Amino acid sequence: MKPINVGLLGIGTVGGGTWTVLARNAEEITRRAGRPILITAVADRNVELAQKVTGGTARITTDAFELVKDPEIDIVVELIGGYTIAKDLVLTAIENGKHVVTANKALLAVHGTEIFAAAQKKGVMVAFEAAVAGGIPIIKALREGLSANRIQWIAGIINGTTNFILSEMRDKGLPFADVLKEAQALGYAEADPTFDIEGVDAAHKATIMSAIAFGIPVQFDKAYVEGITKLEATDIKYAEQLGYRIKLLGIAKRREHGVELRVHPTLIPAKRLIANVEGAMNAVLVQGDAVGATLYYGKGAGAEPTASAVIADLVDVTRLHTADPGNRVPHLAFQADQLADLPLLPI
Ligand code: HSE
Repeated sequence: MKPINVGLLGIGTVGGGTWTVLARNAEEITRRAGRPILITAVADRNVELAQKVTGGTARITTDAFELVKDPEIDIVVELIGGYTIAKDLVLTAIENGKHVVTANKALLAVHGTEIFAAAQKKGVMVAFEAAVAGGIPIIKALREGLSANRIQWIAGIINGTTNFILSEMRDKGLPFADVLKEAQALGYAEADPTFDIEGVDAAHKATIMSAIAFGIPVQFDKAYVEGITKLEATDIKYAEQLGYRIKLLGIAKRREHGVELRVHPTLIPAKRLIANVEGAMNAVLVQGDAVGATLYYGKGAGAEPTASAVIADLVDVTRLHTADPGNRVPHLAFQADQLADLPLLPI
């Protein structure tokens, strides 16, 4: 069967993981997708690394714009991150009729409306399971699994770096700065770690989830964002003595006249499941009117967990592209012309 050709932008941690898992599980992934998924071209500044990872079996280029226009490529996987070049590359890929799979939460939280509209117009798909909570399939849960529900609220530990910092400060009494360095060394933190510790990364992810859960546009600029930099070891200690854990939560909550979208440190009773999510793990609670509370738990960062989500999107896009190129799933669960008029409420 004719393979689907993938162009990979960025072969760093997640790109490398995607290559490895696709190769290791090729037989099963092919049976699921219905045809082989092949990374035939890679764009990265580090040619040596790209050659080492791919073993010379893919075309390597340093010109990402050339790759996203390549007529041989069916799907572009964007793993570069950031708002600027990534945005131009994604829009150029869409303009050239490529489907896009991305892990870029910042890009979608800030420019999602423009990107989804461009994809809709061109009749291509934008898939982004890897953008929220790494390996946890929370996008698919919200979009497909819970589509019967009126979602009431979502509350999640969706930044591994800050959860790791809070856990280490509590368990080992280590100072904030030391633990942050450790999180960076372990590859959890963003290129700019202020995005993690100031709550911006969690807000990007909560913004995307709110759009899917409530059928509203992505509105990162209206989210309330507060990180963990003002917390001290004594806050954690006193919370503990009172029977609470401090967690950085991303919350999206339906109210009568709108939606609250907020990220801030939260006191959670220590006996609750979500209070016991430790280290770099992520967990998301979703309350639906029919299903009740559901809880999703797993690794929110790292090479193979995030690759797991990237490849799930590749399988989805391959199936849909192959079955009926004219009939795509909506990017954001609700039809684009049927978004709800629910304003984000001031916090
Ligand atoms: N910096 C992010 C985190 C990586 O710590 O969760 C995964 O999005």
